[in-house]
Amino acid sequence: MSETAKSRAATLAHLRGVKLAKGDPVSLPLTMTTTFHLPGNPAGVSQYGRYDNPTWEAVEDMLGHLEEAPAVAFPSGMAAIAAVFFALLKAGDRILLPSDGYYTPRLLAERFLKPFDLPFDTRPTKSFVDGGFSGYRLVFVETPSNPGLDICDLAGVARLAHEAGALVVADNTTMTPYGQRPLDLGADIVVAADTKAPNGHSDALFGHVASRDAGIIAAIREWRKLSGSIPGPFEAWLVHRGLETLEVRFDRMCTSAELIARRLTNHRAVKSVRFPGLEDDPSHNLATTQMERFGFLVGLDLGSEARAEAFIGACALIQPATSFGGVHSSAERRARWGDAVPPGFVRLSVGCEPVEALWQAIEASLDGVDG
Ligand SMILES: Cc1ncc(COP(=O)(O)O)c(C=O)c1O
Repeated sequence: MSETAKSRAATLAHLRGVKLAKGDPVSLPLTMTTTFHLPGNPAGVSQYGRYDNPTWEAVEDMLGHLEEAPAVAFPSGMAAIAAVFFALLKAGDRILLPSDGYYTPRLLAERFLKPFDLPFDTRPTKSFVDGGFSGYRLVFVETPSNPGLDICDLAGVARLAHEAGALVVADNTTMTPYGQRPLDLGADIVVAADTKAPNGHSDALFGHVASRDAGIIAAIREWRKLSGSIPGPFEAWLVHRGLETLEVRFDRMCTSAELIARRLTNHRAVKSVRFPGLEDDPSHNLATTQMERFGFLVGLDLGSEARAEAFIGACALIQPATSFGGVHSSAERRARWGDAVPPGFVRLSVGCEPVEALWQAIEASLDGVDG
C-alpha cells in the first residue's frame, strides 16, 4: 500500500468523527425515513427520501475521500453503470465496451441502449487501444478484466480517447480505490460495484460513480433523483461499516492472493494461472506501472469442467458462489455463465482466512483432483 493510500485510510476512520457535536453518536445512525420535518420554504435542507438520505451521504463522504472525487451512491454496481449511460449519452453516440469484461454492461447495451440509437462495439481488454477511439463518445474499460484478468493501459486509453473526443469510464470493481486509481491515470469517471470488496461481507448490493468533473456529477445526481435509482439506507449503513475495514481486508486479501497464485503455479493439477503479480503473467509489466496492488482474484485453469468442479466442491475453505471480494474465499467456474474462458477456468476470490490454513485446504483439494 502506498503512503498516500495509508494516510487516506487513516483519515477515513475519522471523517465522521471530526464533524460531531457534543452528545452526537460516534457510530453512524441508520436513518430510515422517507420524509423530513419540512415546514414552509423547503430550500436548503433534506426534503424527501428519493433526494437525500444522511446514511448515503455518509457513505458518499467516505467514497469521495477514497476516490479524491465527489461520489454518488447507487443500489448496485449495475445501477451505477446504467446511470453513466443514461445520464450522459444522447441518441447517435457510439460506445466502446470490453468484449471480455463483466458481461452485464454488454447485455444492457444490446437490450436497452441499441434501441435508443446508442450503438456499441466491443474489443478485447489486452488490445483495447488497437484501432484507436475515433467515432466514440464513451469508452468503457475494465482493467483487470473480470474474469480473464487481462489489463489495458489506462493512461494510454485516456490520452487517445480524449484526443478523439470520448469520455473514459473505468470500472474499478476488481481493484477498489486502494489498488488502482483510474481518475489519477486520466479516466473521467470511475464506476464500481461496492457489492464486492468495499462492503466485503456478501450481504448488500451497492455501487458508486465518482468523477472530478462537476457537470458529470450533477447529471449523475439528477439521473438518480429522477429515475429513483436510490440505495436503501440499511445497505448504505452496511457499506459504511464495510468501508471502515476495507484497507485491512484488501491488504490481507491481496497479500494472500499473491502467495497462493505463486504456489498454484507449482501444483501439478493446475494447467495455468492468471494473476497480474506473477512475473511471467502477460499482464505483469503493465500492472506494475498502474496498479498499487495486484488484487485478490486469481484465475486458474484445471483443464476440464469436471476437474474444476471437483476442486471447488471439495475445498473446505472455498465457498462455491458467484461474485467476489467477500471475507470468505469463494470460487466459481465462469464458463457456467457463458464467459469466454476455458471450461476448466476457475475464478478464485481470495478472502481473509489466515493464508497458511487457506493454502492447505486448497492444496488438499487440488491433490484430490489430481489423484
Ligand atoms: C466488474 C464488475 N462490474 C460491475 C458489476 C455489477 O455489480 P452489481 O452486481 O453490484 O450490480 C460486477 C458484478 O459482478 C462486476 O464484476
